[in-house]
Amino acid sequence: MEQKIAYYGGTFDPIHDGHIKIIKYLLNNNFDKVIIVPTNKNPLKVNNPIANIDHRLNMIKLAIKNIRNVEISLEEVHNINSYTYNTVMKLKEKYNNITLVLGTDIKQNISKWYKYDKLLKQVNFLWITRKDRYKNSININNLPNVSSSEIRVGEKWIYLNKSVLKYIHKNTLYFKEILKYYTNNKSRVIHSINVAKKAHELANKNKIDANKAYIAGYLHDIAKYLDKDIMLNIMENNYNKHLKENWKTYHAFVGSYIVKNKLLINDIDIINAIKYHTTGTSKKMTLFNMIIFLADKVSDERQYENVEKIRYIVNNDIIEAYKYIIKNNYKKFKNNQKDTLLIKAYKYWCGQNEKLN
Ligand SMILES: [Fe+2]
Ligand SMILES: [Fe+2]
Repeated sequence: MEQKIAYYGGTFDPIHDGHIKIIKYLLNNNFDKVIIVPTNKNPLKVNNPIANIDHRLNMIKLAIKNIRNVEISLEEVHNINSYTYNTVMKLKEKYNNITLVLGTDIKQNISKWYKYDKLLKQVNFLWITRKDRYKNSININNLPNVSSSEIRVGEKWIYLNKSVLKYIHKNTLYFKEILKYYTNNKSRVIHSINVAKKAHELANKNKIDANKAYIAGYLHDIAKYLDKDIMLNIMENNYNKHLKENWKTYHAFVGSYIVKNKLLINDIDIINAIKYHTTGTSKKMTLFNMIIFLADKVSDERQYENVEKIRYIVNNDIIEAYKYIIKNNYKKFKNNQKDTLLIKAYKYWCGQNEKLN
């Protein structure tokens, strides 16, 4: 019997639970096979995908690992500006009964597609809708309310397959978009990337996990320009005992909250390194935390009096450099701080009675 094929194209930047739900629906409803056709570029879209095609393919493979009767076509991966019509004709060499599965967001534009009239004669169309009903459309119940564009700015990551989520973290995919979205500040994005690079370099040198250091460095200032009321709210509900810290340090606590609860990073080293990157802390301050703390102070774009001296110490001895900065901060701020993390850090690392010159 002739196989009924669903052709499911898209950028999958990245693939999420909405896509997976559609694939499963198709397989449960008369289709023998779903062929996923990732596009390298979309000829009608000005914006090209953010994640490169290798990453997008890897994520698709992770997400469909346990689903049978799904294939990936590399037709449009190899032919960068290929058109659906061409791909369909290729698949027609093997399959006769092909249905194009499309989101209704494409409907307005479809008549502009390359050889649209001919395409109509070659395939069936199946429209996936959320609410509306069109001819040849299906309305999949409980389709998760999520889009790849939301995911690309760090929203709704609960709708990512766990392996895909890990892959995104590990490869820092979409981090730049996330920072642009959260900070809306170009120089903060540049600073963050520089801190990531510096943290990576220092971690390598000190034989600790450089990939993790890169991630923590990249995200350390994610909350820097968040609305003050939102920050205060997160502080009050989660870091009540740190409300007495200088408000300029709040972004560190709130940043660690966002990384944990929005980006779903559960690595305690990364979470703590972000949390303590402005204040430092006492015995909880690991070598990993110190590296993020210091990378932030000596990233390539940093220019202030003394920076070369601090760079020199950082390159030679992480703990000494940390103590040096804590001591300087203590000298600067001790009069207007009481019982803060800085004071605790100073007492623990530099000793209460040490002379301050
Ligand atoms: Fe910061
Ligand atoms: Fe920073």
